[in-house]
Amino acid sequence: MLNWDDPLAGLGRNKHTPEIKVRPGMGVQSNEALMKTAGQAPTVNPDPDTVKQEQTDSAAGAMAGAIAAGLENIEMGARRIQVDDKKIINCRADLNQLVPFKYDWAWQKYLDGCANHWMPQEINMTADIALWKSADGLSEDERTIIKRNLGFFSTADSLVANNLVLAVYRHITNPECRQYLLRQAFEEALHTHAYQYVVESLGMDEGEIFNMYRELPAVARKAEWALPFTQHLSDPNFHTGTPETDQKLLKELVAFYVIFEGIFFYVGFTQILSMGRRNKMTGTAEQFQYILRDESMHMNFGIDVINQIKVENPHLWSAAFKEDIITMIREAVDIEIQYAYDTMPRGILGMNAGMFKEYLQFIANRRCSQIGLPEQYPGAANPFPWMSEVLDLKKEKNFFETRVTEYQTGGALTW
Ligand SMILES: [Fe+2]
Ligand SMILES: [Fe+2]
Repeated sequence: MLNWDDPLAGLGRNKHTPEIKVRPGMGVQSNEALMKTAGQAPTVNPDPDTVKQEQTDSAAGAMAGAIAAGLENIEMGARRIQVDDKKIINCRADLNQLVPFKYDWAWQKYLDGCANHWMPQEINMTADIALWKSADGLSEDERTIIKRNLGFFSTADSLVANNLVLAVYRHITNPECRQYLLRQAFEEALHTHAYQYVVESLGMDEGEIFNMYRELPAVARKAEWALPFTQHLSDPNFHTGTPETDQKLLKELVAFYVIFEGIFFYVGFTQILSMGRRNKMTGTAEQFQYILRDESMHMNFGIDVINQIKVENPHLWSAAFKEDIITMIREAVDIEIQYAYDTMPRGILGMNAGMFKEYLQFIANRRCSQIGLPEQYPGAANPFPWMSEVLDLKKEKNFFETRVTEYQTGGALTW
């Protein structure tokens, strides 16, 4: 274990990596010079052939990782960081300095996320407890929907949080984006807390709910689909900086932000919110509504990051790569349609699995256009227009006007 006074030198650095000094705020030119000094080929804007060779050089990769981590040595009196030094990925500027801001949208989402703070215990679960425990308050189909969604989400949000902290964070080399990622990671913890709170309040079998993702194929399938992406990125030997690895990161961001949080959550959210609209399980539905508001912003943040990476690295967004992403999205839609059939084999609450198929195609069209891909399901309409009142469709700003004033005021401590 490190002591407070231990030097930071060596943290995040592979033992085979040459020790180099990184000047805060240095641009591409000075970085190349520095890399040459260290006996390594430059990794900024290289041609693809050079890059392939470099990819096999693990020392260079580890060095890039150390620089990207934000744990490099401090050089006294170095040039101050300029906005133009900042980049979303593969940035060599000091990552410990939040300002000057380059990506105002990321900072604004951090502020909005904080202004939306909520806690699961604030929501009254009394009516839900009475309904859940009454013999004839809910049909078996309704109970199945509630249990399976709690089974899926209670582990899915932990998976997302682990992906953020252990895989995504170190590859996003921008302090204002990292600030939002930290906020998002806490929100994912709150979501897992909320599901646990519902399970505990209703007196459900915790073992049954929290093990569903490895005991029930309908719940397991989506987590199984997502896990390889996070496993890949969290590998300590994985480093961005080549077209191949940068594309792997980009694909992983699409997998988690656009698909996992942007498609895989939507059947469950719609089912539970629909129950709330019919005055059933209103506390649970309210928990889900706050979670959905957060998730909507997570997804929009991810889409902004993806699009910014595209702007700064247009060579990554090749025709073949776009085809790859489209295939992945279409596959995910099929998986989520299957989840709709598995969770509601019969029609319920004025909904049926067929309606979810069209809803998912409608959502997938939106996700595609949000990241600059052609819509894949021409003419798909939204069978649940009421969902757009509570979630991501142009409603993000309204969320902030509805609630949560006590957190926005802040600073109200009395001593
Ligand atoms: Fe979440
Ligand atoms: Fe999320």
